[in-house]
Amino acid sequence: MTHLNPDTTDRISQNTPCRRKIYLDQAATSCPKAPGVADAVYRYLAGSAVNVNRGTYGDAYSLEEEILDTREQLLKLFHFTSGRGKNVIFTSGVTASLNILLKGILHPGDHVLVSSMEHNAVMRPLVQLSHTGVTFDRIPCSPDGTLLLHEAENLLRPETRLLVCLHASNVCGTVMPAKEIGDFCRKHSLIFILDTAQTAGVLPIDMEEFHIDALAFTGHKGLRGPQGTGGFLIRDELAAQTEPLISGGTGSISHTEEVPGFLPDRFEPGTPNIPGILGLHAALSYLEQTAPGALFRREMELTDYFLKGIRKLDPEENFICLAGKKSTDGRCAVVSVQIPGADMAQAAWELDSRYGIMTRVGLHCAPAAHKALGTYPAGTIRFSFGPENTEAEVDAALGALAEITGISRRKEF
Ligand code: ALA
Repeated sequence: MTHLNPDTTDRISQNTPCRRKIYLDQAATSCPKAPGVADAVYRYLAGSAVNVNRGTYGDAYSLEEEILDTREQLLKLFHFTSGRGKNVIFTSGVTASLNILLKGILHPGDHVLVSSMEHNAVMRPLVQLSHTGVTFDRIPCSPDGTLLLHEAENLLRPETRLLVCLHASNVCGTVMPAKEIGDFCRKHSLIFILDTAQTAGVLPIDMEEFHIDALAFTGHKGLRGPQGTGGFLIRDELAAQTEPLISGGTGSISHTEEVPGFLPDRFEPGTPNIPGILGLHAALSYLEQTAPGALFRREMELTDYFLKGIRKLDPEENFICLAGKKSTDGRCAVVSVQIPGADMAQAAWELDSRYGIMTRVGLHCAPAAHKALGTYPAGTIRFSFGPENTEAEVDAALGALAEITGISRRKEF
């Protein structure tokens, strides 16, 4: 069954195809990228596109400096004051980072705590590891995705070694209390790994204050850099306990076939994504010039506008149900809605094909989160905002939702 209104769709389908495209899928990847990113990637690829850590010529050395500078930018961004450039490891993103960390740290018999809102970037490696004797428990969340951290005490076992969780839900935007989780981990001597896929570059993150042992980040979402960039920041003590998942040439200690014990080489075999890292460097430089919190404030203005617009359209949530928190409190700019009785995929397809509005639909690689939110198995349509989206675009999304759900036929809005 669907709420699509045949009158409305007929009228719209008579119109010329929608030429205006509105990108509201910023949680999947940011668009547009930060100023300077595309130029940096192009300059490298079209210019002296040499390798790094291998050449003994000037261009290779300057490239190394730029990459080292990027590591320093990341240390600063995440307030890793006790870390050095070597403690920043580049990978293809959060998924690769979490795989390297979880598979490198955990052994059969270890027990792990996760939140009930995790993405498959955490859950799939953990389920793989569960086949080898690692066990895990999920800390419950309330129906709006808020972590019930006090319940974690009951899940502790003598063999509990690590807690890994996301900083904000990619489904509904609920932010986890990272500092309190860090305090809990410190109190119980647990390794704390934070997945910042939805928050890096957006929310303040302090590795020292939050007692984070390893932080996985992506370059292509809130940081507004290229896809295929990201990595992890790791403390020396944890790095020493982490067996590298991938090994190979590093351009260092080439006389031995043993994996280097030192950072970052221990976790960075092979030629890195140099154009991507240079693009990320440009994105970080842009972020450094932006007033702290300005991008997040702008995103939250748009989120507030959208949430209030939904409330106004359908105060009783008869036609549009919000998943997660109803206000901007404790969330980031990711909003999921469910249209009761409708096929979410069909509705998202209508949004794109008839209104030019790009969203992400379904379970968002996070079935556990949808179970916690009560939106499983139908899933949701997810709207996510970036600093360059506009109120006019939000209005267009609200108008489209009103038509798709039939609300616009019922009342003037
Ligand atoms: N994990 C990303 C998302 O939520 C790709 O869309």
